[in-house]
Amino acid sequence: MQENNKTLGEFIIENQKDFPYSSGELSRIFNSIKLAAKVVSHKVNKAGLVDIIGGVGEKNVQGEDQQKLDVYANEIFIQTLINREIVCGIASEENDDFITVEGSDKSHNNKYVLLMDPLDGSSNIDVNVSVGTIFSVYRRITPIGTPVTLEDFLQPGINQVAAGYVIYGTSTMLVYTTGCGVNGFTLNPAIGSFYLSHPKMTIPADGSIYSVNEGNYVHFPQGVKDYIKYCQLEEEDRPYTSRYIGSLASDIHRNIIKGGIYLYPTSSKAVKGKLRLLYECNPMAFIVEQAGGKASDGFDRVMEIVPTSLHERSAFFCGSTNMVNKIEDCMLKAK
Ligand code: AHG
Ligand code: MN
Ligand code: MN
Ligand code: MN
Repeated sequence: MQENNKTLGEFIIENQKDFPYSSGELSRIFNSIKLAAKVVSHKVNKAGLVDIIGGVGEKNVQGEDQQKLDVYANEIFIQTLINREIVCGIASEENDDFITVEGSDKSHNNKYVLLMDPLDGSSNIDVNVSVGTIFSVYRRITPIGTPVTLEDFLQPGINQVAAGYVIYGTSTMLVYTTGCGVNGFTLNPAIGSFYLSHPKMTIPADGSIYSVNEGNYVHFPQGVKDYIKYCQLEEEDRPYTSRYIGSLASDIHRNIIKGGIYLYPTSSKAVKGKLRLLYECNPMAFIVEQAGGKASDGFDRVMEIVPTSLHERSAFFCGSTNMVNKIEDCMLKAK
């Protein structure tokens, strides 16, 4: 059996040219993320043994019940990033407002902001099913040396300089892009290092998996209902297979590898959709586009939406290009 022996750290150093702004800073950002991911991975693996299952009795700004692991992962990622003084601001699903990182010299000299969903798929924690972390990095817009403002976070997805996700699944994986393709790394827990296991990830242009919470079917727009019926028709290579984990990062990871589409539409219950544009849709869209796929809100490219608030939501259709094209057709016809 051949062992992959290139570590994430080595890979980043070898590919520093991929990060056009500042190579040293990219390494430092990823060093923090991989460290925090290892800490969270260790905790996730002990869920059930340590007191990490269940809710904390608080709601986040989205009105969702916070799970203990939501809060734990949020604190680990934030503290790791703050301690290393690499970003000038952090926004998170679990924080109402963004955090300003001034640095120990109070200089506000760092150039990047990071947005994250620290624990994605938190309804899966208590039942031992995959969860993840999603992150997105932008270069700040406001001048270096001043505190960050909301404007630094409200950038369209096309401005992302890096994005990635971690999956705490049967193994722990970190997948990322800096705009030069997508690479995946698997944690060897015995050694504590991520190794390049999925170089140059690409998503097939066609697929046969559709991933949607079909329980909401009656509330979906007509175009989505039409597309779901199309997936279920006995014709050509259909009916497709339905697979839905309920963790965006894990569902999309599977669909990148196998070919498929992920759908979280607007509905009469969630008129703007459920997923958050800045730290769920945009980073996943960047990764999927970099793998050769497509991400749409049903009509337009997700990464071109100009955000107006930190926690805004969007409809999200993401995956194999021909499948996303098909749902855009259905949406247009039903308009
Ligand atoms: P989070 O756990 O970060 O709040 O995200 C949950 C998201 C996403 O990960 C998942 O695909 C989707 O919500 C599941 O929603 P439903 O339970 O409505 O299907
Ligand atoms: Mn949540
Ligand atoms: Mn999420
Ligand atoms: Mn979350």
